[in-house]
Amino acid sequence: MKKNQAMKIQNLVKSFGSGDNKITVIDGACFTLNKGEFVALVAPSGAGKTTLLMMLGCVLEPTSGRIEIGEEVVYDNKWLVKDDRALRRKKIGFIFQAHYLIPFLNIEDNITLLPYENGEKEEVVKPRVKEIMDYLDMSDKLKSMPSELSGGQNQRIAIARALANNPDIILADEPTAALDKERAISVVKMLKKITREQNVTIIMVTHDDRLFPYCDKVLTIKDKKIDIMVLGENDENV
Ligand SMILES: Nc1ncnc2c1ncn2[C@@H]1O[C@H](COP(=O)(O)OP(=O)(O)O)[C@@H](O)[C@H]1O
Ligand SMILES: [Mg+2]
Repeated sequence: MKKNQAMKIQNLVKSFGSGDNKITVIDGACFTLNKGEFVALVAPSGAGKTTLLMMLGCVLEPTSGRIEIGEEVVYDNKWLVKDDRALRRKKIGFIFQAHYLIPFLNIEDNITLLPYENGEKEEVVKPRVKEIMDYLDMSDKLKSMPSELSGGQNQRIAIARALANNPDIILADEPTAALDKERAISVVKMLKKITREQNVTIIMVTHDDRLFPYCDKVLTIKDKKIDIMVLGENDENV
């Protein structure tokens, strides 16, 4: 069973500040996600979605609790990995609401920046990027600049960049918020296809309940804890 586990969270707590100014945003979150699942995270503004995502991505240190990524315990009341930056570069990809492509680098350089920084060799990175770009139907855009592409195309490039590292988990914070409905659905379909074909687990923060039918699970933050709703198989939407 455990082989299928993408991440397991136990009693995760996050507070900010101290004394009278202390606020607890997440207070005992528990859930398990499997490989290849497409998961929505929905909650009102200020409920702690970004905070949770950043802890799952090993970017923000929790106050307490336990995080397993794959089968590795990465946090148990303290970081247990020697190099959390290396962990998140290798296992976790990020997609944000704004695509954050670097405007003065072309698409290819934007996508390959991180793999090269991780010390990967050109002969490994190039074919992988070609495969991803073919897959996203964007191979003719490698030499374009971000300013030459539409919002939807740039968001697809942001997906390509998240995939370029071969991550096990992709964390997407409102990746469709800046897109119109049609483009939002096309990006979400693409994300779902990626979970199925690449066995990547994707957690997507969204406010748009029209996107739920594409998801396997919906996480919500209730009373500072996580509620999990399993939507079951709905592969007809792929
Ligand atoms: N670095 C921080 N210091 C203090 N409070 C923070 C910090 N980051 C987030 N918060 C607070 O945590 C709560 C949740 O924020 P956030 O995770 O951004 O919510 P969401 O993404 O759901 O809108 C908010 O009340 C916010 O003010
Ligand atoms: Mg947020």
